[in-house]
Amino acid sequence: MSDISEAEIVQLVDAFYTKVRRDRVLGPVFERAIAPDSWPVHLAKMYDFWSSVMLTTGRYKGNPLAAHARHKTIEAPMFARWLALFGQTADEIFPPEIAEIFRLKSERIAESLTLGLFFRPV
Ligand code: HEM
Repeated sequence: MSDISEAEIVQLVDAFYTKVRRDRVLGPVFERAIAPDSWPVHLAKMYDFWSSVMLTTGRYKGNPLAAHARHKTIEAPMFARWLALFGQTADEIFPPEIAEIFRLKSERIAESLTLGLFFRPV
């Protein structure tokens, strides 16, 4: 995975959240959650996150499950849409074999988030 650069990760994250903010379903969730002047902070966090996932830089220090659990407007079916947009964006930026790694990682993380968010034992 050494042929993925930090600059490409920035490009991916920026392009993805541009799509997300315009999306009819996902856009309003982010609009409610992130104030316009807080977007640079969110994007920087996401650069760190994907850098940690793909390049094992360990830069991201956070708790994604807790961060998502705060937002009660997130619904399970939204994850398919998020993943489709993310995969599409990865395809635009990376060659197919690298885009596939991003897709697999995102699907695995989405699965663990949905389990944590929606399938807690009572
Ligand atoms: C339905 C799908 C999703 C929605 C609507 C969603 C929405 C959000 C929102 C609103 C935030 C901001 C939280 C805050 O700062 O208060 C956030 C943060 C974040 N999201 Fe998602 N998300 C989704 C799926 C995912 C997936 C699949 C991943 C990973 C592959 C992911 C990774 C992250 C990370 C790392 C953060 C930063 C958490 C932190 O504050 O440390 N999200 N997401």
